[in-house]
Amino acid sequence: MQTKGFRGKDFITLRDFTREEIDSLLEVGFDLKKRYALKERHSHILPDKTLYMIFYNQSLRTRNSFEAGMTQLGGHAHFLSSDKIYTPAVEGEEKAYSTERVSDVARTLERFGDAIAIRMYGPPTGWVYGKANSYMNEFARWTNIPIINMECDKYHPCQALSDLLTIKEKLGTFKKKKFVMSWAYSPSYEKPLSVPQSAIIAASKMGMDVVQAQPKGFELDEEILDACSKYAEDAGGSFEVSYDMDEAFEDAHVVYPKCWGSKSEFENVAEGDDSGMVKLFEQNKDWKCDADKLALARENALYMHCLPADRGWEVTDDVIDGPQSVVFDEAENRLHAQKAVMSLVM
Ligand code: CP
Repeated sequence: MQTKGFRGKDFITLRDFTREEIDSLLEVGFDLKKRYALKERHSHILPDKTLYMIFYNQSLRTRNSFEAGMTQLGGHAHFLSSDKIYTPAVEGEEKAYSTERVSDVARTLERFGDAIAIRMYGPPTGWVYGKANSYMNEFARWTNIPIINMECDKYHPCQALSDLLTIKEKLGTFKKKKFVMSWAYSPSYEKPLSVPQSAIIAASKMGMDVVQAQPKGFELDEEILDACSKYAEDAGGSFEVSYDMDEAFEDAHVVYPKCWGSKSEFENVAEGDDSGMVKLFEQNKDWKCDADKLALARENALYMHCLPADRGWEVTDDVIDGPQSVVFDEAENRLHAQKAVMSLVM
């Protein structure tokens, strides 16, 4: 188990962690899950520590699992609503009275607490792809305390770690297991690429046989796809891109159908024109996970979703509420996965 080197490290993407380190995070997560189930107190792990949580977007799971997790570890999670603090800005973006330079926010919070967690994507950055991620990195550049990514426009590593915990506990192993990350339709395009990109990074790093499926126009970041091919090759798995949901689902052990916006169309949305995005969405309404679709996968294949799910569009009720759905285990594992991250980096 590799635990050396975690303390003080930022948790912005699983790309910064080796397979061995991810295995350690999973092991610590399982241990903390067991202790929680047995009601064994573990508040000695982070006593008197403070985690600052800055949210620019809504959240149910992320906020509550971090807050509960810090309480259970003996520390305090401090919620900072974006409308109650000055908007962090990078050099050149400052407006008098309403903004504060990221370097100043980061260096100030560092004096009071022990880690800063940030959620930022979409509207606060005008949907300019990569901008939210660059803010995360800017925070990290200016503090010596860990920055934890609670979801940016490129990555959602906490969700991906929880997904891995769920797969490991349900299937026992990652080896020779087919993992399908698929686009699914929703009436709202305001969804970043963070969940699918982090899911394929995680699955390919663990050596799964990964298939990334989407209609034309919804391709993920090419640089991340190339990295996933390399991760899969190094870990003894495989990585493929598909444009056919049915074909992708065949023989799958895990399916993860989920909506995200078109990366190329976000460039037009950022310029104020969402007509291309809307058209692309309306052309692909048949990308839905219903019982017939799920039946194409292996018997007892896992149905996963990070939640919130757009019921009736991305997925039918009988699937998400059915026996193959693991969505609430996945949500619960957010707690244990993030406690593992906080315990090791803080
Ligand atoms: N999956 C997830 O991040 O959920 P929230 O948006 O509710 O935090």
